[in-house]
Amino acid sequence: MRYEFTAEADAILRPVFDKEKVKKGTLRLEPGADRLTLLVGLGEKEKLNSATVREVFFAIPGELCKYEVDKALLEGLEDPALIAAAFEGLWMGNYVFSRYKKDELADKRLKVLAVQEVEGLKERLEESEGLMESADFTRYLVNSRAIDLYPETLAQLAKEELEPLGVEVEILGRDKAEELGLKAFLAVAEGSDKEPQVIVAKYTGAGDAPYGALIGKGLTYDSGGYDIKPGSGMFTMFGDMAGAATVLGAIRAVAASKLEKNVVAVVLACENMVDGSAYKNGDIISSHLGKTIEIESTDAEGRLTLADALSYTEEAFAPSYMVDVATLTGAVVVALGDVAAGAVTNNEELMKDVLAAADQADELIWEFPAYEAYKEQYKSKFADLKNTGGRGAGTITAGLFLGEFVKDTPWVHLDVAGVTYRSDKAKPPYPMGASGFGVHALYRLVKNRE
Ligand code: BES
Ligand code: MN
Ligand code: ZN
Repeated sequence: MRYEFTAEADAILRPVFDKEKVKKGTLRLEPGADRLTLLVGLGEKEKLNSATVREVFFAIPGELCKYEVDKALLEGLEDPALIAAAFEGLWMGNYVFSRYKKDELADKRLKVLAVQEVEGLKERLEESEGLMESADFTRYLVNSRAIDLYPETLAQLAKEELEPLGVEVEILGRDKAEELGLKAFLAVAEGSDKEPQVIVAKYTGAGDAPYGALIGKGLTYDSGGYDIKPGSGMFTMFGDMAGAATVLGAIRAVAASKLEKNVVAVVLACENMVDGSAYKNGDIISSHLGKTIEIESTDAEGRLTLADALSYTEEAFAPSYMVDVATLTGAVVVALGDVAAGAVTNNEELMKDVLAAADQADELIWEFPAYEAYKEQYKSKFADLKNTGGRGAGTITAGLFLGEFVKDTPWVHLDVAGVTYRSDKAKPPYPMGASGFGVHALYRLVKNRE
């Protein structure tokens, strides 16, 4: 989709704030109009916010497909932030993943949003376009299946997508990972015939200022290992690299907008599989930081790869802050459903910035308490730590486990297991399948942080 500053269009999108006429969230054709005019119920004008606009506009492309509208003119909104939200809502409502199945409606889809120029709108829409193309990239990676998307192809796609935008992408294989001492990561990768990859993407928009670091869980498939998942639970585990896809999408958005910031995205990509060489329950492994870890479940693999990713990133880049994004626990789905991501931190100030950024992006993140007492749950008798924390507070113990591998850098962990993928239907303003959740919030965080 594109936007254009013009009044010429073959249809009109007309916001209606009077709920007697058109109920909030509903769409209605204006009878007898000379041009196709869609009345868009937005509820009370005083209560209007960008989240509502996104959600309501998300439904419009589906409706417009019936009429083969190429270009629609947006009326009645003046605030650039609301117009951008409308554009983003339309974009997401138009999204289909067509790698494996042709989009039958491709030529019936809305192509252009026509808008009237207002102060500051051009910049805001350019930003939206960068964000949406980046979130599409994230969605493409997450939606692609493990037969096609494995560590080497993920690394390759990252390079192809990011380098033209001025992001430097370095890819290291198993030998280099061994040299770097990424022992916990390599233990997880051991059972797979796919070579693990270290992906480091660097965007330097601010000279020699310190980097902000975005770290993504990059399990291109999580079978559970010897703690094998049941088939139903394994089905969507091609998406266990959504954290990686999110941070790669976020750095893409930062580069597309040419922000004057330094950002590094780090992904340790591998598969968690079953094989004679795979790591086993009861194994005690080491890590990049040197702490030993007892494997109580081979299915708690994400925290092992992220532990190494965090300590490696902290050592290699001395970043001013780190945010990791991970489909880490089923427990976060129990706690927050598919509505919000869960967060754990070692630094409330950074957390405040993350929550503020999420708020600007209309993405929901909820902070969990990080009480010391929870740390008891992952103590091991024979190793420094064990990789599970029992039944209670699973998202918190997973988060605190990660924190054991961060020395003193402000850090926030985002558990996105509930929000990155929906198998059977869209959750407005996110499309069905991969949502792209988090790209926008991380972009705002990078932009806002000093
Ligand atoms: N990738 C899963 C978490 C997950 C669950 C993501 C559902 C998306 C949807 C993760 O590796 C995992 O298996 N976690 C275990 C941890 C447990 C063994 C401590 C879990 O949550 O069951
Ligand atoms: Mn797992
Ligand atoms: Zn996993």
